[in-house]
Amino acid sequence: MSALVGSRVAALALAAGFAAALCAPARAAAVAEATGVATTGARSGAAAGATARGDPANGERIYGRCLACHALQYDRTGPRHCGLFGRKAGGVPGFDYSEAMKRSGIVWNAVTLDRFLANPLGTVPGTTMGYAGIADARERADLIAYLAKAKCGAAANQGR
Ligand code: HEC
Repeated sequence: MSALVGSRVAALALAAGFAAALCAPARAAAVAEATGVATTGARSGAAAGATARGDPANGERIYGRCLACHALQYDRTGPRHCGLFGRKAGGVPGFDYSEAMKRSGIVWNAVTLDRFLANPLGTVPGTTMGYAGIADARERADLIAYLAKAKCGAAANQGR
């Protein structure tokens, strides 16, 4: 049994190492595949590709859970989410972040968001984001696909 577990871990480490050579979205997809997160059987054909990358339309629906505290275009209890990708954690000027968030050293991308959203308090201990997180990996992938499109400015969805 332990040998089985060991080889599974080794395979994962191998896959992760291999994936590290890829760009970030490909890495997320590869890791998701390695961990069996992307169950392509559940959706068929062309939709399977969308599953690995995340489905932004479903992500918009899931973003409803964040709207209690966030908006794309303006700060609320939490900072605005437009322009999130590539931004340093704690990077919205004028927003009153926790020291923990400002010092986290995180740059937001598909990988760091996936980790944070799975367990906000565990990933950034001391964060003032009082939210338990999203346990379902596919829901996170869909939400991240939606957030990836959240650009600032007139082209973005107003108020969402
Ligand atoms: C109960 C209110 C609340 C909810 C619900 C909430 N957040 Fe937050 N969020 C915050 C606060 C407050 C911060 C600032 C945290 C800090 O400074 O430690 C934050 C910070 C963040 C950050 C870091 C942003 C930055 O500029 O560095 C991300 C990313 C984020 N939230 C995503 C989400 C997503 C996605 C959801 C929905 C799944 C969500 N949050 C739900 C309150 C919330």
